[in-house]
Parts: sequence; structure tokens; C-alpha cells
Amino acid sequence: MNQDELKKAVGIKSVDFIKPNMTVGLGTGSTVYYMVEELGRRVQTENLTVQCVTTSTRTWQQAEKLGIPLKKLNEIQQIDITIDGADEIDQNFQGIKGGGGAHTYEKTVALNSKRNLWIVDQSKMVPTLGKFPLPIEVNPFGCEQLFKRLQSEDLHPQFRLTDNGQPYLTDMKNYIIDLHLGQIKHPHLLADWLDHQTGIIEHGLFLDLVNTVVVGTDHGPQIIDQIR
Ligand code: 5RP
Repeated sequence: MNQDELKKAVGIKSVDFIKPNMTVGLGTGSTVYYMVEELGRRVQTENLTVQCVTTSTRTWQQAEKLGIPLKKLNEIQQIDITIDGADEIDQNFQGIKGGGGAHTYEKTVALNSKRNLWIVDQSKMVPTLGKFPLPIEVNPFGCEQLFKRLQSEDLHPQFRLTDNGQPYLTDMKNYIIDLHLGQIKHPHLLADWLDHQTGIIEHGLFLDLVNTVVVGTDHGPQIIDQIR
């Protein structure tokens, strides 16, 4: 199976975790796309009753078209389960997200969820985090100063640009800086440092957050639970 087929298989499989009357967080990305399509199908054809919050405008628009009932995060009590993609996951279930630039909303939704389930193809499972550039969402105000600070810490920052060479803008109209680290030996230490830098809205290290991963393999979706 190619990568897209693996993404589709895990996206469809993950909808089995959604039970009637649940409040569900919908992530963002090309794997989540398939999950949302399948959820829409079940809402329409099986009358599955759910309410959902989304982590991006993209996912909101897709879900709305499919007739999935949507709420704002401030309107709900608690999220039963959030299903999202990831860019890398290590053996300790720590992850990098934000390849799609939505990690601030994704982390906010994840932190308000009883259970977090990630759906990935097998290429995302890695021994050590960091080959995938670590995204950080930054306030445009003073971002060049922050950039220099990141450079001086040897974090190899690069502004994310669109195909036209313009700064990539998040849903909140902030910029993304990607840190090309190669390897992150101490994710908690790095996360702690980034958490304390004024100007950084949120970084893409998702630590101690995920409960279950559905991995797309050539033998079908494999479910791995993390006992915390
Ligand atoms: C968006 C994300 C995505 O979940 C992540 O980039 C994986 O995307 P895809 O499923 O397209 O590979 O974090 O901010």
C-alpha cells in the first residue's frame, strides 16, 4: 500500500472509536481528512449522533459540508476523544505536530480531551524525534528578534513560506518558524525552554498527551495503547 492508502485505512478505522453521543475533537491534515469523510458518512447513513469541535478552519469547512454537528471549543463541557494526525512519534509516544501549521489549536483541543488518539502511516514512527522540522507558531511582532535568539541557540530556525514566497499564516494570522534540529535528544528540556520564550505562541512538541495510536501498516491498521 502507498502512503495515501495507509492514511485512508487508519482514518476510516479510527472512526470505530467514536460512540453515540460523544463530543469529538477533529484534528487537521491529510490523514484526518479521511477520518472526517468517514465520520460524515456514518453521521449521514447510520444516524451516528455526535457533536464535534475542530482544530482548524480547513477541518471545520470539510465537516460542515458533510453535515457533522459542530460546536466552538468554548461551547462544550469536555471532549470525549480527539482524533488527530502527527508528523513523528517516538517509542515513548512523544510526538511532533504542526506540519499543517495547526498545532496551537490542536494542542488546545488535545489538552481538553479525555482521550487522544493519533492516526499515522508507519513512516511517522521514529526512534528519535527531530528529523521532521519542529514547528513553532510565533507572533509576527518582533519575530526577527526571536529568530536571532533561536539562531544563537543553534536551533536552526527557518521561516515557513508559501509557494509564492510569502510568510505562511496560521488560522490566528501568526507566522511559523520551523526548527531544523535533526535530532531532539531531550524533548522535555527543549519544550520547557520554548515554553518560556516570549513571542512563541506554541510549539509542536506534544509530550505525554497521546493515549492510543493507530498505525497504518501493510498488514492493516495496528492499534497501540499507551498505559500512563
Ligand atoms: C497539522 C498536523 C498534522 O496532523 C500533521 O502534520 C500530520 O499531517 P498529515 O496527516 O497530513 O501527514 O499536525 O498541524
